[in-house]
Amino acid sequence: MRKIIIAIDGYSSTGKSTVAKKLANALGYVYVDTGAMYRAVTLFALEKGFVSDSLDAKSLIEALPNVELKFRPNKKLGKSEMFLNGKNVEKEIRTMRVSEQVSQVSAVKEVREKLVELQQAMGLDKGIVMDGRDIGTVVFPEAELKIFMTASARTRAHRRYKELLERGDEVSFEQVLKNVEGRDFIDSTRTVSPLKPAKDAITFDNSDMGVEEQFERIHSYAQRVIGEE
Ligand code: DC
Repeated sequence: MRKIIIAIDGYSSTGKSTVAKKLANALGYVYVDTGAMYRAVTLFALEKGFVSDSLDAKSLIEALPNVELKFRPNKKLGKSEMFLNGKNVEKEIRTMRVSEQVSQVSAVKEVREKLVELQQAMGLDKGIVMDGRDIGTVVFPEAELKIFMTASARTRAHRRYKELLERGDEVSFEQVLKNVEGRDFIDSTRTVSPLKPAKDAITFDNSDMGVEEQFERIHSYAQRVIGEE
């Protein structure tokens, strides 16, 4: 059966990764969470002291050759985890400290160039489900199936708030909502690869849709495309 590339883009906390992971499992495809890569570079910038109130983009760009990113499978958890320069950073990259700075870091052209190159290399053999913001527009404009996920900012902030509480982070709902809205604004207005649906993407508003329903629908699109020659 032919293998395809599936690009899942959209706003933050639209549940892209949950559906993308499920889809990859069902198809026997590799799943790549590109947000984790931007988060890991942000953690690197924080650790090096390149980010405080503003970002020292020049120092970050100079240090980029020293950033090594790897996804390593964790068999016990049944998923891949992000390693930054050999260290497992899967937990740290999901904290508010990183979320608050990640949009600034991902607006840097040189950061995007480095990560896009790595992502394109991961898709050489196809059979991949990749989620992010620019997968269908920049990384794989030729992807056979493109999905663009949206949901209202409140719905997304509620989902994210619940996740953070479950992890034991002490945050307020207002803080999370502000972060979601702030990231939407920066992600969709930045000059390099702004977040927007590809012309040939299927747009999905999942404000009132459960994970199972989203999965079923996207899975059936994928099967249709895979069956086409
Ligand atoms: O998917 P996420 O929320 O973990 O992504 C974190 C940030 O990384 C998001 O605010 C925008 C950025 N990002 C990006 O610019 N391009 C991607 N392909 C993926 C994420």
